[in-house]
Order: sequence, then structure tokens, then C-alpha cells
Amino acid sequence: MSILIKGGRIIDPSQGIDETGNILIEDGVVKSYPKTTKKFEKDPDVTVINAKGKVVSPGFVDIHVHLREPGFEHKETIRSGCESAAAGGFTSIVCMPNTNPVNDNASVTEYILLKARTEGIVNVFPIGAITKGEMGETLAQIGEMYEAGCVGVSDDGMPVMNAKVMRHAMEYVQAFDIPVISHAEDKDLSGAGVMNEGVVSTELGLAGIPCASEDVMVSRDITVAELTGARLHICHVSTAGSVRLIRAAKKRGVKVTAEVTPHHFILTDEAVGQYDTNAKMNPPLRGDKDREAILVGLKDGTLDAIATDHAPHSEDEKKVEFDLAPFGIVGLETALPLSLKLVQDGVLTINQMISKLTDAPSGILNLNKGTLKIGAAADVAVWDPEKEITVDRERFHSKAKNSPFHGWKLHGSVLYTIVNGEVVYSA
Ligand code: DOR
Repeated sequence: MSILIKGGRIIDPSQGIDETGNILIEDGVVKSYPKTTKKFEKDPDVTVINAKGKVVSPGFVDIHVHLREPGFEHKETIRSGCESAAAGGFTSIVCMPNTNPVNDNASVTEYILLKARTEGIVNVFPIGAITKGEMGETLAQIGEMYEAGCVGVSDDGMPVMNAKVMRHAMEYVQAFDIPVISHAEDKDLSGAGVMNEGVVSTELGLAGIPCASEDVMVSRDITVAELTGARLHICHVSTAGSVRLIRAAKKRGVKVTAEVTPHHFILTDEAVGQYDTNAKMNPPLRGDKDREAILVGLKDGTLDAIATDHAPHSEDEKKVEFDLAPFGIVGLETALPLSLKLVQDGVLTINQMISKLTDAPSGILNLNKGTLKIGAAADVAVWDPEKEITVDRERFHSKAKNSPFHGWKLHGSVLYTIVNGEVVYSA
């Protein structure tokens, strides 16, 4: 079975390609870029996708997703999370270990990968925990999880508070050339905070999480990475201070990379409005100055990748007082149109935006994805950057609906998602 994607604007930053052309997919891989297409169009074994006026890019790679399985299948399953990813143009997703049981040993990793192989429709790469049970005390079975298929380690959601434990993790991972992925937060400084500490939290009477809570940990982790020589990846950057610290560390040659979520580059803490729990996540939405610094960081390359932190929660869990609601919002199905706002607003070129969703995140975790090179697995997204859409959470493929973008009018629509040469989503 072959697929011909015809006449689209092929943008593949991994090869520096931006040209109108055709792509032939055969046996699950990118076979060629044929100059003429007649021969294939006449072949009944070739499915033709007319991509005229559309963008054809590598499938997107999201290095920060919560799939919830095992343990929290009422929020999301590996299957529903993969379907959500495919609908958003993502062909590879990386799932965080805060499941139940925590992915802190090879048998959980193997379970996730088995489920992903049998029920998943996109490529799934697990992240193992840094510490047993994400308790921050004893290192998890990092070597065994690596052997089983983990591509990095993180205690996402439960930051490692003990610097010595972090040091040991950073020393240990170097044997496997995987990064330590830091949810940078000082839990003591965050205290009982539920949103950004500032004017809005004061007006609403909610306990705040200061920017310093993130900055302190980014600073500590960069310092420990410098000490150990480890590769450090900073998750969901939300503050101007983090951007400044990461920029300076990169300049010094520290092996640090960073991601930012669409909600942190689009929204500020004003979005909490009247206690909207769909605007509650960790790190929280920050102020204008932070958002502006993030935009500069995206532009100057301090922030390498866009990742969603897709964090599904059930409607019941979110329909409670703001203080009691869990942190997190879904993101896979709104990432493309929200990222395209960066292009519309002149922050990034379309090529830069695609790079931050494809080859850049893939490179951070050595996934070998995010490319349309001849011979590579045919993971492709075909999308319309102009089409106006209205975000409708009822139409999400995710089990969860917790998005602050419901009802937003945006531009950008995924038409086809292809994984290993198979169409896994079509609009
Ligand atoms: O908002 C968040 N949700 N931040 C985290 O760190 C964890 C995540 C979750 O698992 O729901």
C-alpha cells in the first residue's frame, strides 16, 4: 500500500526544505519526492492525497504528555491519548511517569509500551521516574527502564527537592546519554498556592505560587547540571527568570534545553477570570512580563521546543472549587492552531514553528523522529494553516475536556495524520 501526497508545501526543517512538491510513501517509509505524479495516480494501489494549498510537514512530536494509564483510565487511556494526538497532528508522544503505579521500573515501562503497540495509533515513548514512586528519595531503576525503552527520566509534577538526589540522578543518566527532565518547582515556596502569585491572585483571594518557586529550581538544576556535565531539560518554562537563567546557561555551554507550552505563550493569569479551573495548571499562567519574555525566548532559541503538557482530568474532578481542582489542561488538539498564532503575530516563521514541534523536540530526547528524510518512517502531518476553526471541547478525541480554549476562534486545521505510512487520522 502506497500513499502519494501531491502538490503540498513541504516544510521539513530537519532538511531545510520549504518547497511545493510530492511525497511518495511506500512500505511505511518516505520513499521519494517524485517530480511527476501521473504514473502513481493511475496505480490503484496508490492512495492519493491532494495537498494543494496545504502544508505537509513531519508529524509533530510532543515530549510532554500525560497518558494516565495505568491507574487513571477515567481521565485518559493510552488509546484515547493517542487518538487525541493523531487528531492534533502528533505522530510521536512522550508520556510522563506519574501513573499508578508510577513508571519507576521496567515492568511498568514494558506495560506501557505493550499497550501502545497494541492499542496506540501513534509512536509512544515513555519517560521513567527519577526516584522510586516519585518520592524524591531513592533513585528509581533507571538503567532497567532505559533498557526497556525509556527515553529520559523525570519526577514531573513532583519535583526532586533534594539536590543531592538530583546530583546522583544526573551522574547516573550519563551512562545512557538520556537527559534529566526537570519540573522545576520549589514545593516549599509554592506552599498551598493554586495560581500565580500577583495582583490577580490577591483580587481573587487565592493563594499564590511565586515565580521564584520556578526560578530557584531552574537555577539549582542548571548548577547541578554544570557540576555533573549531565544533559538537563527544563519542562514547561513559565517565568521571565527561567528564560534568563536558561539563556545564560546555554551561553556558558551548559547542556540545557527547554520547552514551553502553548498556554504559557498565549495566556496570562487573567485567564483564571472567575475561578475557571480550566485555567489551573502547574506551573500556573503568569503575568504579562513573563509571557513577553517567553516570546523573546522562543524567538532567540532559548526555548527549543513546544510541548503541550497534555494533562487530562475528568469533568467531575475539575467542577469543584478552584482550590480543590487538580492542576492541568489538555493540549494535544489545540497545539497547532495556538502555535500558528506565533507565526501570525510575527514571533516565529512557519519553519521555526514547525521545527519547535518536530526535529527540535525529537533531538532533545534522541527519538530519531520529526523528519521527512528519504528512508525515514513515514510520520507526516498534512494541515491547512489558514482554515478558521472554533475550538469545541465536545469534539475532542481525548477523554477529557479541560481546556481554557473552548469556543476560541483560531486558524489551523489538521487534515491528515500518517504514522509509519498509515493514515491514522483524517478530518
Ligand atoms: O498541570 C499539571 N498537571 N502540572 C503537572 O506538573 C502535572 C500535571 C498532571 O499530571 O496533571
